[in-house]
This record gives sequence, C-alpha cells and structure tokens, in this order.
Amino acid sequence: MCGIFGYIGKRTDSAKIVFDGLKSLEYRGYDSWGVAVLSKSSLKIFTKKAAGKIGNNNVNALPDGNIAIGHTRWATHGGVTDTNSHPHSDCSGNISIIHNGIFENYEDYKKKLVQKGHKFISETDTEVISHLVEDFSKKLTFSDSVKKTFNLMTGLNAIIAVKLIEDRIVAIRNGSPLVVGFGQDENFLASDASALLPFTKDVYFLEDDEMVILERGKVRVSNVKTGKIVRFKKQKLNWNVDQGEMGKYSSFMLKEINEQPKILREIAMSAGKNVEKISKIIKKSRGSYLVGCGSASYAAMAGTYLFSKIAGRHINFAIGSEFGYHLDFLNKDSLVIPISQSGETIDILESMKKAKERGAGIVSLVNVLGSSLYRMSDEKILIGAGPEKSVASTKALTGMIAHLVLLSFSLDGGVKKGKKALLEAANSIKKILSGKDSKNIKKLADIICDSKNIYVIGRGLSYPTALETAMKIKEISYIHAEGLAAGELKHGPLALVTKGTPCIAFLPNDETYGANLAGAMEMKARGGFVIGISFKSHEVFDYYIQVKDVGIATMIPNIVVGQLLAYFLTIKKGLDVDKPRNLAKSVTVK
Ligand code: AGP
Repeated sequence: MCGIFGYIGKRTDSAKIVFDGLKSLEYRGYDSWGVAVLSKSSLKIFTKKAAGKIGNNNVNALPDGNIAIGHTRWATHGGVTDTNSHPHSDCSGNISIIHNGIFENYEDYKKKLVQKGHKFISETDTEVISHLVEDFSKKLTFSDSVKKTFNLMTGLNAIIAVKLIEDRIVAIRNGSPLVVGFGQDENFLASDASALLPFTKDVYFLEDDEMVILERGKVRVSNVKTGKIVRFKKQKLNWNVDQGEMGKYSSFMLKEINEQPKILREIAMSAGKNVEKISKIIKKSRGSYLVGCGSASYAAMAGTYLFSKIAGRHINFAIGSEFGYHLDFLNKDSLVIPISQSGETIDILESMKKAKERGAGIVSLVNVLGSSLYRMSDEKILIGAGPEKSVASTKALTGMIAHLVLLSFSLDGGVKKGKKALLEAANSIKKILSGKDSKNIKKLADIICDSKNIYVIGRGLSYPTALETAMKIKEISYIHAEGLAAGELKHGPLALVTKGTPCIAFLPNDETYGANLAGAMEMKARGGFVIGISFKSHEVFDYYIQVKDVGIATMIPNIVVGQLLAYFLTIKKGLDVDKPRNLAKSVTVK
C-alpha cells in the first residue's frame, strides 16, 4: 500500500532525505513515486514524480530545501501514469499534497471546483484535495484549510500538505497510518515506523482524526473533529536500524527466514508475566475467537489445534475479511484475539471495530508497536519479530505460532514446556537452514519449477501448514499451489492429480501420520510426484525432505521448509522475492 515520508528541519537536502525514506517504504508495494521540495530561494515548489519503480532514479535535480514530502502510490483512482503520481498541486503550484486512502466523495467536489474555474490535470481523487485546500486558503489559515478539507472527505485517508512560505507540514489521518518522528531541530512523518529508524526512535503514532502540525522545533497535535489540543506521549521504538535493512543478504525474505531461530529463542526466553496475564483473560472469557488474514489466518487456525491439543480448550477461528459478517453474537463476555504482523490490515481493523461495538474484549497478537491494531486493543502481545519487510511473511508468521504455542501451554499451566518446544523448533530450523538440508530443498525447486500446479496436503496442525506452504509458493513464484486437508482429497481434488503432478505431503510423527501416508499413496497411485516432508523416509516418496520430530512444535520447522521451497522456486524463475506483483505488505484498503 502507499508510502508517505515527510521532512522539516535544519538540513537543506530534504528532497534526498525524503527520497531515501521512500526507498525504505518500497516493500509496502507501489506503482509510482514522487517527491516535492519547497525552495525558499526560488520561492517555488519543485516536484519530481514518475510511474514505475524508484529503481536507479534520483532527485539530484531538485533544489535545496528544508521541507520536503514524498509518496509511493498504489493506484486506486486513475491509472499508473506520471501525471497521476503524487504529490499533486493546486492551480497556483504553491500547495502540494500527498494522500493515502480513498477520497470516496471526491466527484461532487471536483465538479464544483471545475465550475469555479479550477483546472485539473490528473484523474485522481487526490488532486481534488489540493484544489479544495487552495479554495479554503482564500479565507482560512493553511492548517484550517487542510482541516476543513479533511472533514469533508469520506473514506479512510491520510493526507500530508505543504504550502510555499508556510514553514510547516500539516498532516491528518483517519484509517491510513501516520507516524511522527522527533529529531533535533528536525521532525519527520512516515507511513510506518521502520522508515524513521535511520533518523530517530522517538515517535508518536497519530490516532484517527488527529492533525499534526510539524515545524522544525515544534510538533502540535489536535483533534480535527473537536479542535481540542492532544497531549501526546512519545514512544521509543524497540527496533534497531540494522533490523530494517537487508545487510549481508540478497533479499529481505532470505534475511527474515534466517532470523527465525534467533527470534524463536527470544520469544521462548521472553515468555513470562504477559503470557500468564493473557491466558488468565482467555480463561475468564466465554467464547473466544482467533482472527487473521492471509498467512496470519493460518496461524489463527493452527491456534485452534494448539489450544485444544495442549490445553483442552476450545477456541474458534475466523478469517478477518469474513468475521465481520458473523460476529453478531459477540457480547461483553466474548474475547477476540486478532493476529496481524502489520496491525494495519483493514479487514482486521474493521471487524475489530464491530467487535468492540458489541463489547467484546480485544487481545491482539501484533508485530508493529503503535500500529492501529496495537492501539485499539485492550491487551496486546508484541510478536517481537522485528521489522518484516518482505511481502511474504516468514518470521512474523512463525513468531505468531510460537506465541500461540506458549499461550496454549500457559493455559495448561506449563509454559516451561512451551519454551522447551520452541527452543527445539529453533534448533531444527537452524539445521534446515544449514547447507545440506537447504541444498536438498533447492534441488527440489529445480525439479518442480516448471509445474503448473502443486498440491500440498496435511492433517491436524499440518493442515494450516499445508495452506501456508501453498500461500508462500503461489504469492512469490506465481505457480498455482493449493493447500488441502488430506482427508478432503477423495472428495474432489484427487481428480486433479495426474502423471508428474507435484504433491507435497507433511507427515509429522503424530496421530495423523498413517492417514496422511494413505493420502500420499492415493496421489502416488494417480501418478503424482510425491514429496514427503517427514521425520523418516518412506518408499512412497519420490522426494524426501527430513524434518526432525520436535513434538507439537514440528509445524514451525515444517513451515520453514515451505518458505525455503517457495524462495528457491522464485529465484529459479528470476522473480522478485520481496516485491511480488499485485501484492502489498500491508492491505490497508478494502
Ligand atoms: C503473507 O505471506 C501474505 N503476504 C499476507 O497473506 C499477509 O499474511 C496478510 O496480508 C496479513 O497481513 P498482516 O499479518 O499484516 O495482517
């Protein structure tokens, strides 16, 4: 989704600062970009913007200035063209606006502005904001003009505005995230905190309907509905700048896959009061739900098996985008546990708002401190995976499952066993990532990289594992992959298995082993190329990948095998592992 970066301060290379900020936001997914800088010497706003990726572009042609704003656009209204890229100006060229979200009711205002003589050059809803601010500025101050414009807009939006001769940046959010970064005689704005790490760890996450006026040495926050001043509290980011960078790796995905053993160990060792507190809340609740989208939904589904098998406790599961359609039964005794890496997924935020309206308690499992979900929750568990920048979620997903393992054991009074299970899983992953195992997975990728379809089966905890493996394969290698409950093969999907069809079967050493082996044999009997991922080999396997048995946490190293397979398939096909087509790291628009 779109990225926003703004700078105001003592430095005159603000265009370059903003441009570099945009580069660190590329992982969010975008299709055009742009930077605007206010030049006091020329009394003009200079803009450079273009469709396509930032690539080898630069902003060296832009002049010095102390104020600059920048944007990476994910097209919603208007095609991917240079003209439709942000920032957008008004008629005078003295106002520049960037925008995240959808200005739903822009057309009526565009018509009125055209009748008043305003000239539009783009197809975007955003450009209407620039001309509205220009229009209101005839009678109101700049910040009041921005506020009045924002209050006319329906939809979830964040806007940043600058105006020549105004020594400030004005920004407002409702739905789309905005974070203020505090420096020495300089201040920053960004869509997410990780982009601020090279400059500051002192941040404030704007709440919905809050407007910030950023000056070199002063930051003021107010509520655009009430007009009241907001006494905000800065937060200190718990990430280090190198965590947000690629370092020695060739991609964020490879880096994040390799960080998993360390993160699992940290999660295991950090388990303490918070886990016990949350498990007490779960015990007290009547009716509880694990809710997530995409890979996070597979973590949520895995949670239902973990809670049942470890703690004998029932917990429901729902997909975030569907939960809003069947949560009417929720009440003040209900507990909802949304799971989200970004904490900005709109389907989660919207269903949680509905859940809160029904009085349900919200305990979130989230990776980004200060994210919208983090701030709307009654209680939260920080996943602690560090910034995850590859669109394909890896370390955050296994981190989610790790916390669910700990919670399940804590519900059963034995968090120590949970810690032990995670430490064993971490060691198993370390081995998988080592030379021999990793080479074996790479060799498999070379064999099946031209497949049109890949089927992945599992039972019990291996069912969400199969779904997650299929997700990884399809979202970055673009090979159609389908995850299946192995028992469902005979109810239809088996018809699709023909000679040479790659069929991946997860066969951990648990009660599902025998039935799953039968599933593998059924696929083999139809000519499938059976890939066994298990603690021991078997004659039915055409290809075998060993994963050590680490009990109920075996699903975590199994998932890592799937991550590596997807990674190698993608590299083999010469695709971008970090920024797959059509996808964004955080789905902040419906
Ligand atoms: C994960 O590989 C996917 N990119 C995607 O399904 C992701 O898990 C989903 O969009 C949820 O994101 P969240 O965890 O930030 O809410």
